[in-house]
Order: sequence, then structure tokens, then C-alpha cells
Amino acid sequence: FIMFVDSSLSVVVLAAGQGTRMKSTLPKVLHCIAGRPLVEHVITDALELGATDIHIVFGHGGEQVQQALSAYDLNWVEQTEQLGTGHAVEQVLPAIPDDHLVLLLYGDVPLITVQTLQRLIAAAATGDALALLTAQLADPTGYGRIVRDAGEKVQCIVEQKDASTEQLAIDEINTGMLAVKADRLKKWIAALDNNNAQGEFYLTDIVGFAVADGIIINTANPDEICEIEGVNNKRQLAELERAYQLRQARQLMDAGLTLRDPARFDLRGELIIGRDVEIDINVLIEGRVELADGVQIGPNVILKNVSIGAGTQIHANSLLEESTTGTRCDIGPYARLRPQTNLANKVKIGNFVEIKKSNIADGSKVNHLSYVGDTTMGSDVNVGAGTITCNYDGANKYQTIIGDNVFIGSDTQLVAPVVVADGTTIGAGSTITKDTSAGALTLSRAEQVSVKGWKRPKKKKL
Ligand code: UD1
Ligand code: CA
Repeated sequence: FIMFVDSSLSVVVLAAGQGTRMKSTLPKVLHCIAGRPLVEHVITDALELGATDIHIVFGHGGEQVQQALSAYDLNWVEQTEQLGTGHAVEQVLPAIPDDHLVLLLYGDVPLITVQTLQRLIAAAATGDALALLTAQLADPTGYGRIVRDAGEKVQCIVEQKDASTEQLAIDEINTGMLAVKADRLKKWIAALDNNNAQGEFYLTDIVGFAVADGIIINTANPDEICEIEGVNNKRQLAELERAYQLRQARQLMDAGLTLRDPARFDLRGELIIGRDVEIDINVLIEGRVELADGVQIGPNVILKNVSIGAGTQIHANSLLEESTTGTRCDIGPYARLRPQTNLANKVKIGNFVEIKKSNIADGSKVNHLSYVGDTTMGSDVNVGAGTITCNYDGANKYQTIIGDNVFIGSDTQLVAPVVVADGTTIGAGSTITKDTSAGALTLSRAEQVSVKGWKRPKKKKL
């Protein structure tokens, strides 16, 4: 982006509104879209644009907002009374050098894109103008209207409550986002008054001052209407969540992802995909997830901070967190991989199996109804149905070490710490409390007895 190289950029984010209609104790701008606070979406845009400084005008719930955004380098400016958008901007102006370009954004308008803002900045650079982001709406009710003269030049913005019937028919609206040099903004803001229907200091009155000063006014438009929509209630929050999810889904499909239904896909983080990756319906992806070439994700799967190797299939209703798999693994349905699980290649984890903090080497299988925790498992191991590692004595956790080519019969308990040596076979139903010897059959069962003539108890008569 080279359109605007001669000025530093100061981004101002207005976030002083209370957000009463959210009916929440959480400040409005901290409600999330795709798992990130509304205002954070705006801040990351500002950073991507290369902002020198980011100023946040806050009011209600300031401490909470500052805490939530403590990872960012921001200039916090308090607006103690909400006397209007012009008054809000006035609070930050002393912190902005005269030669900066000011880009005004809103903490509750999260879907604005870097591309649109680059066009807005370019519009400000063209002829050293005041640049307004405007949009044509089928229903412009509530918004300030862009009033143009016969030559299509912008004359002023008139707020809904101050507009004449004729002006109310204008369908080009003010989104509120604008870009202009700081020195000009300072001059105009100083001249604002609150003689209007709402008794507020309207930022929009600067447009009239720009016209009077002979400054060019350019307009830019968003690519999509959702970019300029604000969040005032939970319905709008949900609508913008969907719009954002659809935007992400489209980008991923453009990058080659097969998505069975983009309307039933949620990404709250970052998804990195190889070629020929397929994702079925109702999949939720959180944090940073990597799916290598040919990975297939079944319906209702949840993936959080995982890396999945090429050709691996994850079947329906599985939940994987902070885990990795190698290539061509087969997981689920109904599998759970808890943090610090690392599967090598061609590992099979079947239904109702929970794995925690374990490494499992190539070709091993845990197919049915098992718990494997704090375990290192070798290659080509077969773990029978219902086998569990008893890793916890109520106070401490212990390791289970399983060698290569081990066969563990069904319903075995491995009482850690314990080592199952290479090539061990364990008979079904065993409770293994001691280390086994390599290649041996190990059993721990009471001998089977048959009691002849034994009678089942009968129900007592009253
Ligand atoms: C404003 C614009 C209007 C535009 C609309 C787009 C003005 C006078 N009008 O109207 O032309 O169509 O936005 O949504 O600018 N805020 C503060 N402090 C204040 C007042 C507002 O921080 O004292 C913040 C609010 O938190 C909100 C934003 O500014 O995020 C817009 O304020 P709001 O009162 O909703 O403006 P509108 O009346 O909708
Ligand atoms: Ca208002």
C-alpha cells in the first residue's frame, strides 16, 4: 500500500458508548465476534494499515476494556460525559501531531476491512481532501444523510433528527468513518456547537466547515454493507457474527477448502489448510489449527489448537485440543484428544476413547472405550476395548510406558507407574501393577470356577 506515504497515521477509535441495549454487564465493545472482542477487530485493522498511533476514546467500563486489550500498545483517552461524536474526537486531538492523517473508526463497527480503509485513506490523499466513507442503503433510516449539490459535490451531512422531508429521501448515508489531516480536524472541531435537535456536538458538522474552507471532500464506499454496520444489541451481534463467518468461509473456499456448508462453519482463530482439505457441516475451529493435504473433518467436530497431518481423517463428533497427529491417522467418531497428545503416523483412535498427555507411535490402535493418559506408547500396539491407564492415585500422576508391538487384551487396567515391555501380550481383564517382560504373556486373573447346583435368588413373596 503506497498511496499514503507522506503522513503518519493516527487511528482514533470511538468506544465511549454504554451499549445499554446489549443488556449486559460486559462493556459493549468487549462482546465477541469469532471469539475476539468487537474493538479488537478494529484495532487489528489499524495495525495492518500501519498506524503510528492508535487512540481509544473510552467511557463506560474503561478498566475492563483496557485489561482486555492489554496486549496492544494503545493511547487511552477518557470521555467522561458523552456529549456527541464531535466532543469524543475533541478529547484525543491534543495527543495527535498536526501533520498526521487521522482515520476515525468505531469500536462497535467490527467488520470494516483493511481494503475499504485503504480506499478511504487514498481518497483523503487525493487532493489533500476530507474523505468520508459513505454507503447507499435501501433503508437509510437513522443515519446521517450525505447532501450533495447539483454537481454531486458533498455539501454537508444532516442527521436524521435534523433532516427535512426532502433530505430524508436521500439514500446515501454517513457511515461515520472518515480520514483527514489532523491540523484541519483540530480547527473544525474547535468551531463545533451543539445547536441541533439532539443538543450534541456533531462531528458531522465539520463537513460544512470543510466546504466553507474550500477543502475537497471525497467519498469512498465499502465492498459490503456489513462492513459499516454497528452492534447495538444481541441480534445485531449474531447477524455480524454470521456475516464474518461467511467472509472467512469464502476466503477459505477461494484458497481451495471444500466446505460442505459455509453457513454451518465457525472459525474463531486461524485456519491453515493444505490442498484437498474437506470439512463437513457444523465444525468449530478455535485458536490456531493446521490441516495438511487431504485431511478430512467429519460433521460436528471441534478442533482447538491442533495440527493434523496429511491424509488424516477425523470422524463425526470428535473433540481435539492442543494435540498433533501425523499422516493418515484415523480418529473418531466420538474421540477426545486432550492437551499434549501427539500421534505419529497411521494411528487409529476409535469411538469413546480419551487420550491425554500421551505420545503414540506409528500404527498403534486404541479403538474402543479407553482412557490413555500420561502414556508413551510404541508402534504397532493394539489396545483392546475398555483398557484404561490408572494414572492417578488421588494425589499424583504416574507414567505408563508401553513398548512396540504390544497386544493388550480388552478391559485391562494398567496401574501406573508401569512398563509394558516390547512384544508383551496381556490377557483380557488383567490388572497390571508390575512391569512385564518382553515377549511374554502376562495375565492377572482369578481362576475361573463353576459352582454346580447353584440357585439364583428368587423374589420373596409378601
Ligand atoms: C453517527 C453520525 C451519523 C452516522 C452514524 C453511523 C454524528 C453526529 N452522526 O450517528 O451521521 O450516520 O453515526 O452509525 O456523528 N460516541 C462516543 N462518544 C459520544 C458519542 C458517541 O464515543 O459522545 C461513539 C459511540 O460509542 C458510537 C459512535 O460514537 O460508537 C456513534 O455514536 P452514535 O451516538 O451511535 O451516533 P449516531 O447518532 O448513530
Ligand atoms: Ca446517537
